[in-house]
Amino acid sequence: GERAVKGRLPFTPIAPVDAAVDAFTVPAGYEWQAIIRWGDPLFHNSPAFVPGKADPEAQELQFGYNNDYLDILVEKNGRRALLCCNHEYTNRNIMFPPTANAAQEEQVLKHLMAAHGFAVVELERKRKGEQWSYIKGAPRNRRITAYTPFELTGAAAGSEYVQTAADPEGTTVLGTIGNCAGGTTPWGTILSGEENFNGYFKADPTARGNARYGLNDRPSNYGWEAIEPRFDATSEAYRNEPNRFGYIIEIDPSDPTSTPRKHTAMGRFKHEGANVRVDESGTVVAYMGDDERFDYLYKFVSSRKFMTGSSARAKRNNMLLLTDGDLYVARFSGRQNPDNDNLGKGVWLPLVLNGQSRVDGMSVEEVLVYTRLAADTVRPTPMDRPEDVEPNPRTGKVYVACTNNTDRGKAGKPAADPANPRNANKNGHVIEITERRNRADSTVFDWNLLIVCGMPEDAGTYFGGWDGPVAPISSPDNLAFDSEGNLWISTDGQPGTIGLADALHRVPLEGAERGHLTQFLAVPNQAETSGPVIHDKDGSVFVAVQHPGEDGTWDDQQSFFPDYVAAGARPGKGEWRGPRPSVVQVTRKR
Ligand code: FEO
Ligand code: CA
Ligand code: CA
Ligand code: CA
Repeated sequence: GERAVKGRLPFTPIAPVDAAVDAFTVPAGYEWQAIIRWGDPLFHNSPAFVPGKADPEAQELQFGYNNDYLDILVEKNGRRALLCCNHEYTNRNIMFPPTANAAQEEQVLKHLMAAHGFAVVELERKRKGEQWSYIKGAPRNRRITAYTPFELTGAAAGSEYVQTAADPEGTTVLGTIGNCAGGTTPWGTILSGEENFNGYFKADPTARGNARYGLNDRPSNYGWEAIEPRFDATSEAYRNEPNRFGYIIEIDPSDPTSTPRKHTAMGRFKHEGANVRVDESGTVVAYMGDDERFDYLYKFVSSRKFMTGSSARAKRNNMLLLTDGDLYVARFSGRQNPDNDNLGKGVWLPLVLNGQSRVDGMSVEEVLVYTRLAADTVRPTPMDRPEDVEPNPRTGKVYVACTNNTDRGKAGKPAADPANPRNANKNGHVIEITERRNRADSTVFDWNLLIVCGMPEDAGTYFGGWDGPVAPISSPDNLAFDSEGNLWISTDGQPGTIGLADALHRVPLEGAERGHLTQFLAVPNQAETSGPVIHDKDGSVFVAVQHPGEDGTWDDQQSFFPDYVAAGARPGKGEWRGPRPSVVQVTRKR
């Protein structure tokens, strides 16, 4: 086996786990526990989880489905924390039995709408280093759903492109959907990206931009247009409704009465997430990926500087940071060395600069709403599905997880280039970017490939120059850093590409161990490892286990995570055998 990994979170790497294993696997000496599961009650008046029962009012008061982005914000005393988590989408095939009539169907659709969105949940523990538990009825507990009002901010707010019959002002949007990755800001708010919003709408494919965003006039994937007219954008009243999704949202988890916001200044695309860097001069930038084959990498540069401290003035300033600024898209150039140790160059191409559009024939409002169309005109580099993009808090270097792109190099599609070095790229890669002079607002950068994923023995794989044994890895998705500056990479799709359960990996970035990738955990059958949070000083790792058993049906469940209720148990009081997406903590055994 692999030798032990040293550092603040020492562990013996686990062996890769076969794809079909329905278990949560942790290193020897560690244990795991679900902190909170889909359907767990958040408020004093929350009903208990009842398997298979569609009950939208109950779901609005319970933890939502398919947790993805996650952070655990620990308070100074170390005994209280805020769990912040989004709920990207739903798997109704395993959540509910088939419906028998229209009334049941309406209840299920409303339940699914209430299972989307976001959750804030207070945690407690008696001592540092112990396991957390959540507090039902805590004052900051909150659910945000597909019904919650959001304020639209930035230059495109109020524009003709976002007005609808229900919101002629174009400033208030109901709900957030498709929230994938995210980031926590230095001013204490949570960002989350509205990603696959197109799947929720029926829309005119000939209307401006719609085809480029994957919107079409077939029934939507979720069918909500049957109960909510706003999801049928083929109607004149709601033709702009899809233009009100596809943004970065910002939530202040400290204030459960605050209105969450959608920031048009950060552009509209299939936002995977956003991560903020504040450099030494106080310049605030956010890095963002558009997760689609051959879509782009973006950077937002705030027009305001960050203010430190907790004064009301600082808070007011910082809450405006993402409402106004410059928007750029990346073009990579350079050459690829045979060993993948590239030295590449890149440039950030402005779409909006100093409040002015830099795109011929498009106003600022149009650039911010039809961002993909705007970007297409400046010839950025089409990427292999950029997912999480995250700056290393210790160095400022930026890491881009390109999850995969099997269409690369196909007839009529872009071929491999230095930054996307393989045709038919099924396993993905991770790029490392260094801004010129390490200034966050630099318009030029250097880059190299950190990892070209796959089975280590496969030709063309590369692990940061490390040539010792490494773990296999495919489809990198979410990124996180520990306090020592090591990168942690979670995966989404290893079962389909390398036949292994999705995983959480650790890789040092500096020194002799750079590129030495090791595996820390594996998630259950058909699940994705989302939202890793590494509290290495505290001996714990958190992940959001998303879509366990997603290929099953109500009668043929394929994961029993996290409760693993014994076979033969029937759906009933807390004894449902099906899976429940959950936030898991992994701690050292005491
Ligand atoms: Fe929801 Fe791009 O993963
Ligand atoms: Ca993702
Ligand atoms: Ca991340
Ligand atoms: Ca993914």
